Order: sequence, then structure tokens, then C-alpha cells
Amino acid sequence: MMEELSLHILDVCQNSINANASLIQIFIVENTEKNSLSIEIIDDGHGMNEETLSHVSDPFYTTRTTRKVGLGISLFKMSAEATNGTLKIESKEQIGTKIKATFELDHIDLAPLGDIEDTLVILALNDKFIDIFYSHQYNENRFEFDTRKIREILEDTPFTAHGVTQWMKEYIREGLNNIHKEETK
Ligand SMILES: Nc1ncnc2c1ncn2[C@@H]1O[C@H](COP(=O)(O)OP(=O)(O)OP(=O)(O)O)[C@@H](O)[C@H]1O
Ligand SMILES: [Mg+2]
Repeated sequence: MMEELSLHILDVCQNSINANASLIQIFIVENTEKNSLSIEIIDDGHGMNEETLSHVSDPFYTTRTTRKVGLGISLFKMSAEATNGTLKIESKEQIGTKIKATFELDHIDLAPLGDIEDTLVILALNDKFIDIFYSHQYNENRFEFDTRKIREILEDTPFTAHGVTQWMKEYIREGLNNIHKEETK
């Protein structure tokens, strides 16, 4: 089973949206020297009680009422463990939730990152106006995308206005390409 990492990110952020977060922070760190990739997602939603937290990475545990399986987090954990990595969750009721997955960067079973620009634009367009902060570090280089800053730049123009999502996608793609360029030192 090989799922793009961006789909896991979307899935975890969907949980944050359901938990009524107002800000979702996504931190990606690629370190070639340490041979590691980490994906950390932090929200300020309603969090989980001890009971939910203790079961959350079991496949089939869910508090959903529409269907009886909850696979999002357990699949993410399986993807991490398939590369000798780990998945850790911290959560506090009324405070929020932190999920951190680590992967071995050169592992043959590491799924591709996938389409980050599409993922971020889908998240940015959420209809609850939840802000998204994305930070992606590749060794010494860093790219950031912050919907709070974009709201400031756009003033009263909504994210759904003509051309805005296209502009966001190009901005993200260019930023990610730049940090992955060979360091020219
Ligand atoms: N960020 C979060 N804040 C609060 N509760 C969460 C959060 N993430 C997960 N949970 C709780 O953990 C449960 C399991 O999450 P998981 O993503 O694995 O499955 P699901 O969301 O229930 O179903 P699926 O992801 O398959 O649609 C959720 O039902 C929810 O109760
Ligand atoms: Mg889920």
C-alpha cells in the first residue's frame, strides 16, 4: 500500500477542520544528512479526551457516527512505520492536537510527497475560514505559505476570486522548486 504523503496530510487536516481548529500548522522537514523526513501537523481544535487518544492509531477506531471505521491516522502511521519511522500524537482537550510522523528519506517504501500545491489550496479554501500555515524545510532552505498573510495581501478579495487559486498554486510550486534546488555554494 503506497499512498501519497499529501493525501495523509489532507486527511489529518480534515480531522483538524472537524475539530473546529482556527489555525492548522504544517511543518515538513527534510534532512538529507540525517536521512529523515518529518511531517508535523498542529491544530488548535477541541482536542481529544484520553479515551479517544489511547485508541486513535488503532485501525477502525472512530468517533464518527456516519460510518464505523476511522482509518486516517492509522494509515498515516503504517506509512511511517513502513519506512522505519514513527507516528506520535499529543492532544489536550480544549487546547489542540499535534501529530508528528517521521520517515526514512531514502527508504524504498517512502511514498512520494504528491501534489502539495493542490493540497494546500484545497485546505485554504475550507469554508470555515481556518487559516493554514505551511513551512517546508529542505536542509538549510525553507519555504513558507501562510493564509493569514495572503488574506492581508488580498484585503477584501476572497480566495475564490478569479485567478487566486492559480496564483497560490504557482507560488507554492515555485517555492518548493526553489528549496529543492542544489545548493550552489
Ligand atoms: N485533530 C484532531 N482533533 C480532535 N480529534 C481528532 C483529531 N484527529 C483525530 N481525532 C479523533 O480521532 C478519531 C480517529 O481519526 P481518524 O482520522 O483516524 O479517523 P476518522 O477521521 O474518524 O475517519 P477517516 O479519517 O477514516 O475519515 C476521530 O474520529 C476523532 O475522534
Ligand atoms: Mg480522519
